[in-house]
Amino acid sequence: MENLFPSSHPLIAHKLTRLRDKGTDPKKFRELVREISALLAYEATADLLLQPRQVETPLAIFNGSELMEKIGLVPILRAGLGMVEGVWNLMPSAEVWHIGLFRDERTLKPVQYYNKLPIEPTVTVCLVLDPMLATGGSAVATIDILKRWGVSKIKFVGLIGAPEGIELVQKNHPEVPIHLAAIDERLNEKGYILPGLGDAGDRQFGTG
Ligand code: PRP
Ligand code: URA
Repeated sequence: MENLFPSSHPLIAHKLTRLRDKGTDPKKFRELVREISALLAYEATADLLLQPRQVETPLAIFNGSELMEKIGLVPILRAGLGMVEGVWNLMPSAEVWHIGLFRDERTLKPVQYYNKLPIEPTVTVCLVLDPMLATGGSAVATIDILKRWGVSKIKFVGLIGAPEGIELVQKNHPEVPIHLAAIDERLNEKGYILPGLGDAGDRQFGTG
C-alpha cells in the first residue's frame, strides 16, 4: 500500500515481541518503547531535506550538510509520551508539541483535552507519535489539527497499526506516510488491536 511503511528491521521485530509479552513490566516496557521509537524515527526521517554547511576539520575545509527543516515531535497524550525521548535524542533541536486526546470508551471517538499550539506554525515537518493506530480516530484528529495549524509535511510514527486505522488515515490524509513496527490482524469488539499489546498507556504508566 502506498505511503505505508511497516518496518522489516530484525531489531524492531525482536524488541516488539518483548513489548507485546504480557510479562514485560512497565520499566522494561518503557525502555522498549523508547528504543523501538528511535529505530522507527531513523527510518521515517530518511527523506529529510539538507542544506550545505561548511566546517573546518583540524586539517581542511569540509563541505558538508545540515538539516534544513524545523522538526516538531507531536506525541498524542498519554501513550505517545513514551516515544518522545528516544526520537528526541536523535534530533535534539526538535520542538515538542503535545496533543491530548483520549478515546471515549463507548463511541471509540477521540476527545480532545489539551492543545497549546501557538497561532503560527513554528516547525515545517511534524512527526506524530502514538504507539497504537487502532480505529485511526486519534491519528486523523491530530493530523487535522496540525494541518489547520499550517504544517503540510506530516508523518505518523506508531508501533502497531490495525488495518482499520491505517485505512482511515489513508482515506482522510492519503499523503501522510505511516511508519509502523508492525501491522496486526484486526480490532476486537472494544476497539483494541489483536494480537496487539494491550493498553499502551496503562502498560507504560503502570495504571489500569
Ligand atoms: C490510545 C492510543 C491512541 C488511541 C488509539 O490512547 O495511545 O492514542 O488509543 O486509538 P484510535 O486509533 O482508535 O483512536 P487512549 O485513548 O487509550 O489514551 P491514553 O493514551 O491516555 O491511554
Ligand atoms: N489503544 C491501546 O492502547 N491499545 C489498543 O489496542 C487500542 C487502542
